[in-house]
Amino acid sequence: MTALELDDVTRVYADGTTEVIALDRVSLTVAEGEFVAIMGPSGSGKSTLLAVAGGLDQGWTGSVTVAGTPLAGRSRDDLAALRRKHVGYVFQDYNLVPTLAVIENVALPLELDRVDPSWARQEARAALKRVGIGELAGRRLDQISGGQRQRVAIARAIVGDRSLVLADEPTGALDSVTGDDIMARMRMLADDGVAVVLVTHEARHAGWADRVVFLRDGRVIDATRVESSADTLLGA
Ligand SMILES: Nc1ncnc2c1ncn2[C@@H]1O[C@H](COP(=O)(O)OP(=O)(O)O)[C@@H](O)[C@H]1O
Ligand SMILES: [Mg+2]
Repeated sequence: MTALELDDVTRVYADGTTEVIALDRVSLTVAEGEFVAIMGPSGSGKSTLLAVAGGLDQGWTGSVTVAGTPLAGRSRDDLAALRRKHVGYVFQDYNLVPTLAVIENVALPLELDRVDPSWARQEARAALKRVGIGELAGRRLDQISGGQRQRVAIARAIVGDRSLVLADEPTGALDSVTGDDIMARMRMLADDGVAVVLVTHEARHAGWADRVVFLRDGRVIDATRVESSADTLLGA
């Protein structure tokens, strides 16, 4: 199934007399289990693209479909519910709640939907295990490292089996070894069937992706297939 489909999406920010075309007729399809990296200069529309894809932005035209559901014309509440069910976000600055324990942070998106709290905890524990930090569940955030915090954010992004993870420069605050570890986790999620869209400045990190999409002035300028090591081994 297609996890994300943008078709001819345009987003114009109008501010009195000036207009900025942040996205200019962008089309992009991401399949389940596909890892797509978005690269481009500052101001090229990368964060806008993620906001549109995640239903955080409503001022666009065109068509956006997440997990088979078209987003056009939906209310803010509808979009929020859809997002909690299908979409996880990972940001450079983690966006975790400092006063909550690790497991509480991960369970939070589920609890916002007033699900059974013990089920939410069970799902949170499973998500933490998936990103390799099950043993940190009971820690406070000030008791774990930056790289571990980013893994908590990834666990929160996938909790409850969400099918699309959107990551905006998630390694920006991390050293390169820890950054590589985060990329390896993203790759594992994709290999597990999650669709991953990663915004990054670093070509080295884009190398983990199946495909790189370049944006410039709000337009997709080129999409290059990155040869995965599996393709190379199979001679495909
Ligand atoms: N809320 C906003 N209001 C007005 N202009 C914005 C807003 N958000 C982004 N922009 C403009 O849209 C363009 C794309 O921004 P953005 O998506 O943040 O780019 P990137 O993430 O690639 O740096 C930039 O010119 C930026 O200044
Ligand atoms: Mg940005």
